[in-house]
Amino acid sequence: MKQWTLEERYRVLQSADEVKDLYDRIQTSNYRQKYHIQPVTGLSSDPNGFAKYDGTWHLFYQWCPWGAVHGLKYWYHVSSKDLVHWQNEGVGMHPDTFYDNKGCHSGSAIAKDNDLYIFYTGNHRDENWVRTPYTCAAKLGEDGQPVKLPEPLFGPRDDYSEHQRDPKVVYVADKNKYYIFIGAQTLDKKGTALIYESEELLSGWKFAGQLNVPGFEDFGGMWECPCIVRIGGKDVLIISPQYTKLPGRAESTNHNVYIIGHMDYDTLTFTPESDYKYLDFGFDFYAAQFAANVDDPDMAILIAWIGLPDNHYCTEPEDWEGSMCLPRELRIKGDHLVQAPAAAIASLRDGEIAAEGKLPDFCEMEVTNAGGDFFLNLYTKADGTGGVTMKYDEATKTLTVDKTGMEKRFNENVGEVLNVPLDESLKNIRIFIDRCSFELFINDGDATFTSHIYPTADEHNYTISDNGSVKIYALKPSVTDEFKI
Ligand code: FRU
Repeated sequence: MKQWTLEERYRVLQSADEVKDLYDRIQTSNYRQKYHIQPVTGLSSDPNGFAKYDGTWHLFYQWCPWGAVHGLKYWYHVSSKDLVHWQNEGVGMHPDTFYDNKGCHSGSAIAKDNDLYIFYTGNHRDENWVRTPYTCAAKLGEDGQPVKLPEPLFGPRDDYSEHQRDPKVVYVADKNKYYIFIGAQTLDKKGTALIYESEELLSGWKFAGQLNVPGFEDFGGMWECPCIVRIGGKDVLIISPQYTKLPGRAESTNHNVYIIGHMDYDTLTFTPESDYKYLDFGFDFYAAQFAANVDDPDMAILIAWIGLPDNHYCTEPEDWEGSMCLPRELRIKGDHLVQAPAAAIASLRDGEIAAEGKLPDFCEMEVTNAGGDFFLNLYTKADGTGGVTMKYDEATKTLTVDKTGMEKRFNENVGEVLNVPLDESLKNIRIFIDRCSFELFINDGDATFTSHIYPTADEHNYTISDNGSVKIYALKPSVTDEFKI
């Protein structure tokens, strides 16, 4: 694996020419995605600034131009009319001020009247590499480029650790106020969120207090990317807790969970109505963010990074890695969320392909289980061996996904086998296969499972148990992947 020096990771991008060769080289990779957002060069991680503005969906991602490494972070900008066809817009935000000299870290956006307002963490480091995170703001200008405010909205509090970042801005109509949730860590290293409030978007921000979530006082050592949304009259809080192991998540110490409950902005208390749940049961899913300005009180739109902070992926030798999951529609059903890919995904279908045990490198599969124990093995060799095995056990209503059979193994240290406990018997799985990822929507979206995967040329087959049936649809590509910096 390439060893990066600090200078290499934190090199400032001066001109587009500096990454053109890298762009040309990665275009030839067999793992470039066909309908998932991926980095133009280098690394993409968290989704940022997701909002609908002026009839267009805007999304940014954490971007390190130089390779598959976490270094100096930019915001790279993509846009879409339908959440499915995405075009590259170029660099959204450059780390070019004192306050963000070592990165424009994660944040959110909200559209109001005719403007898109952006909130992000300026990751400042001094000459001794001591970090000060600032909460900064920008406004999308007429030319589509964010214009930063000259000064941060506020700096860090000294009664919490230096881990204070990832502002998520929300408007709360009954208070007629804006709130910013900041992911934070207490001085005794417990994960939490801090809340700021203001009547204006770009001024007047005051610290309101620490978010209370009864029962979650000791739940991980840092909550990255906190996010909150209202769906069907309930509040849904999502967090990415770190530095802790959670049940059923093997050895991983990075997670993405949601809690359904009620947020009281007077007492800053989020009262859970049931226990936390995993947003996704897959190997690689993190830093999920709800889109702002969704005009449907019963539905939220969510996107997440297919990846985890400390993991390494098989495209690293090609000098790029990372993707976003498909944007998803989320609704509440009973005590949990149901998730479906954005509706316009249906427009990508390009005819049914004969399901004869061959797996195209990108496609959609509709799989049905007639009942009872079941298996589906994806990415097997022609003789049916190897691949990702998915085995469903009716007695425990558990689907077990095991990727140890793949030729390219990765992140073995955090576990290669995960279970999905289902509330009801397995009926169906809708599967989205792209060139280096797969996403399962199980039982009409009651549970999802998202992961990177790097099949070799020999791993393009599948096998299914006799009680299973499958339909395969060819899909049209929907990410333009052009060179735009
Ligand atoms: C989450 C995260 C955020 C931070 C960003 C930096 O993956 O660590 O907390 O803002 O990534 O890229």
